[in-house]
Amino acid sequence: MCSIIGCIGRLNVAPVLVESLKRMEYRGYDSVGIATIDNGRISTRKGVGRVADVDKSLNLIMMPGQIGIGHTRWATHGGVTDKNAHPHYGCRAEIAVVHNGIVENYKELKEELVHLGHEFKSDTDSEVIAHLLEQYYAEQKDGTQAIIKTCKRLKGTYAFVAAFEDGTLGGSRYDEPLIIGPVEDGYFISSDILGFLPYTDKAIFLDNKDIVVVDRHRLKLYDSDGNPVNRPVTQVAWELAAIDKGKFTHHTLKEIHEQPHTIMIAATQNREKINDFCRILLDSKTIYFTGSGTSYHSALVAKHILARFAKIRAESIMSSEFQYALDSLDSSSVLVAISQSGETADVLQSVKTAKQMGAKILSIVNIPTSSLARISDSFLSIDCGPEVGVAATKSFTGQLSLLYSVVDRLCNGRVDYEAGKLELVDAINDVLASETEIEKVADRIRDAKDIYIMGRSIHYPIALEGALKIKELAYIHAEGIAAGELKHGPLALIDKNSIVVIINPRDGTFDDNIASAHEIKARGATIIGVSDEPNDVYDIFVRIPSVRDALYPLLEVVPFQILAYYLALRKSVDPDYPRNLAKSVTVK
Ligand code: AGP
Repeated sequence: MCSIIGCIGRLNVAPVLVESLKRMEYRGYDSVGIATIDNGRISTRKGVGRVADVDKSLNLIMMPGQIGIGHTRWATHGGVTDKNAHPHYGCRAEIAVVHNGIVENYKELKEELVHLGHEFKSDTDSEVIAHLLEQYYAEQKDGTQAIIKTCKRLKGTYAFVAAFEDGTLGGSRYDEPLIIGPVEDGYFISSDILGFLPYTDKAIFLDNKDIVVVDRHRLKLYDSDGNPVNRPVTQVAWELAAIDKGKFTHHTLKEIHEQPHTIMIAATQNREKINDFCRILLDSKTIYFTGSGTSYHSALVAKHILARFAKIRAESIMSSEFQYALDSLDSSSVLVAISQSGETADVLQSVKTAKQMGAKILSIVNIPTSSLARISDSFLSIDCGPEVGVAATKSFTGQLSLLYSVVDRLCNGRVDYEAGKLELVDAINDVLASETEIEKVADRIRDAKDIYIMGRSIHYPIALEGALKIKELAYIHAEGIAAGELKHGPLALIDKNSIVVIINPRDGTFDDNIASAHEIKARGATIIGVSDEPNDVYDIFVRIPSVRDALYPLLEVVPFQILAYYLALRKSVDPDYPRNLAKSVTVK
């Protein structure tokens, strides 16, 4: 949720930290702060707002020193204020700390520290880490020991980096990522490889509870008891650093337009890896899919196509509910966890629980070096490149494309996805070409207070996904409804102010949907049809090309992504960074 970066090198560190934070801003963007060490003195500048804005007002890049730490925040404890922005200090400015995670026992720790004379300046849970470090550092003047002792006191999840005034950086992690980037003349410590990728494609992933201490010349790694440990250096893909917007005004629009390409990439998997993945699926007695938000919607489609084509029954459970639904999970089960980031706390928690119960873990990620990929028995990557926009777009169609390829293998090609994906590329290109038409629809419904999106069968997950896009990007109440459920309750909500979008390509659900549309029209609502076939019942028609039935989810989601994007613009909302959200939700 927050991003943290530490850097020690020969360059002036502040501009490097600012650029790193901009690249990781998708993780949280409430407030920003930097601390640098110069001539044995730590100084800090921090404030509320996006990195570029805070840099402009506080001149972050001019801070002197070759050693420093930085942070972007997504508030969990304490409001979005300057004083709650990181870095935090103890009582003196000897140690500055940036933290990502939640310290669950911060109240007890704070009471204890206050009793010892510590004075707190913020409302955050994170500040206790700074005071604990200060307390233990005062005893022995040994940063490593201070970190070891501090970590033993923390409950909850954390990744933190501390800057000590003697010029060392140290940190640790538990259930939040912390990665070292070794460079020629120093080190980065970051919550994401994007923090340092322009400088090195080497990464050292810390294990849970590992402790890192670096000065300019040396990297030392310890386990939680202070015993030295070694962790391998991993080569990561440079392409992940490619996060410019190109000719587009926003990352979200660029990512929507990348989809014809990314669905092809996701469907191109290493033969051995996909075979291994499929073998584990076939060897299991029960299959569960899990994910959060958009990735959960992929899980719903996966369950549907697996039953339809491979005649295999599966359950799809959203990750935040997974822990309450474990009764039939055992060592003959497999859990397929779907996550763009591979760092979502609810997903990781589901995986841990399933592992404890003996289940095998498969995952579908976009970041092959993510925590999820690393704890899975086997994983496949959609490889769609960095998705910066907080709203998942290309990662969703990438996940679906990969899932269709997997199911195709499980049912000996009955999906015919080899040909299907080419058909999809053309069809998605057609929808993208009608962007201005969809923009006009956004103009017509920009003042809507409520938008209902209906679909049946395989289209229902897309109704949910379409509603999620509109909620998060345009801040309009939107609800995905299984069309057949309309008369069991939701119809009571419909009146002349309602906007109802019906996902209605010509397939087995078409006639029933038209009947539902008439029921809605009779109550005065405006009806938008998303279909390959026009009908008099629609007040507004969004045409999509015809493709074979099973492929519609990958296609029909695209108009909703475009619609949500333009609704956001009409409401003067930045579509890349919707309020209150973060790209990577690493807290429960
Ligand atoms: C989607 O637009 C959201 N921003 C969100 O629901 C997201 O899909 C969810 O947080 C899961 O993220 P993940 O795929 O990285 O696990």
